[in-house]
Amino acid sequence: MPLTRRAFLAGTAAMSVAAPGLARASTYQQLRAAPGSAQLAPSGYAPTPIWGYDGGVPGPTIRVPQGGRVTRRLINELAQDTTVHWHGIRIDNAMDGVPHLTQHPVAPGDSFDYGFEVPDAGTYWYHPHNRSWEQMARGLYGALIVEEADLPAVDRDEVLLIDDWRFAEDATIHESFGMMHDWAHAGRIGNWVTVNGQGEYVLPVRQNERLRLRLANTANARVFPLAVMGMRAWLVALDGMPLAAPASVDAVRLGPAQRADLIVDITASDGEVARVVETDRDGALAVADFPVSGSARSAPLDAPGALAPNHVPPLGALEDAAVVELAMAGGAMGRMPGGTFAGHDGEEVPALWSLAGHAGMPDVPLFQAGLGETVRIRMINDTAWPHAMHLHGHHFRQVFGDGSTGPLRDTLLMERGETAEIAFVADNPGDWMLHCHMLEHSASGMMTWLRVA
Ligand code: C2O
Ligand code: CU
Repeated sequence: MPLTRRAFLAGTAAMSVAAPGLARASTYQQLRAAPGSAQLAPSGYAPTPIWGYDGGVPGPTIRVPQGGRVTRRLINELAQDTTVHWHGIRIDNAMDGVPHLTQHPVAPGDSFDYGFEVPDAGTYWYHPHNRSWEQMARGLYGALIVEEADLPAVDRDEVLLIDDWRFAEDATIHESFGMMHDWAHAGRIGNWVTVNGQGEYVLPVRQNERLRLRLANTANARVFPLAVMGMRAWLVALDGMPLAAPASVDAVRLGPAQRADLIVDITASDGEVARVVETDRDGALAVADFPVSGSARSAPLDAPGALAPNHVPPLGALEDAAVVELAMAGGAMGRMPGGTFAGHDGEEVPALWSLAGHAGMPDVPLFQAGLGETVRIRMINDTAWPHAMHLHGHHFRQVFGDGSTGPLRDTLLMERGETAEIAFVADNPGDWMLHCHMLEHSASGMMTWLRVA
């Protein structure tokens, strides 16, 4: 086998991982990536064998105050390499968890110490970045909640991690990993939806109760068009970042990896059920049920105010900013690159998708940005599929045709055939991935990286 850059790094990983972490061992709480089991299906079924953080799904919710530090020692009890990526955190590059780009993969039996500050309040999450198309589909993910100094006045704050599983008939995870048909089409779409690992998520509430619902799509590839019933809802944050003003909504569409924070007031009466549902052409499927009993107060509260903004630097002058073109191609009914490329483990991966004409991680960055520079990326989705484009280490804004800009996001859902431009201030030094979060798409080509220096 030719000694490529990636194979070489993999070969040296085992020697270098253990030593540096040991000195600080006592201060790091463990986070084990380990096989386990979970009652994902109804009680008539046996628990489903999964892989999860600390053996459960979802993994432990990590809560930390804004500006605080997260410290976790990842212990790999899986039979394959893994890492942890802290999705949406404007993080120290060395802690970003991308194998072969920001760290060595963590081999079975090895560990890695993650320690980083969290600059922004909001709803974030963590998941592996090695074979994520398999490791996340088996249950490795958890919520990372960064709390505002001034928490909004709500009666309850609930995290809802919405996932999509592909089950065999006995509610074991279907072993159809690496299926070319999935990879070239929409990705691995499942047949069973859970919220926080529960097939039937039920949260009893009271009329006029106010909840903050932190919704996150942790599925491999499924887009969730969600709607609320029996509640009045305001969208207050997207991908962790507060909106300038709350927006009254009755629906929100979440692509893979996207989050939406809602503040909701329960309007359904005693004995009724408020709901979050997934809408489709034929109607609605219950995702989360909120049966109402009693009331929290006699009248609803006043509309909520905006959350305190995070300190993300404002965009520089867009007319002076460099524009990088990012052609997205491939997939069924599209221009597939063909052939194979060398994947992380040295195996040959079919090249089904490409970014800027390249399938898989290129050896050189898509572009290099100066520290503090405002960059525009024009993404052209010349495929027959939607893609959830995620940038690491930064939040960006969509730039519309009239020059106006959208809210801060870390993941943008692009429809088939759509062109979208994003802009961000490259203020975080390091090497950062930009990839599709439909995990089968990135695995078979849809990934690239950029350098900020
Ligand atoms: Cu949520 Cu590159 O990942
Ligand atoms: Cu995609």
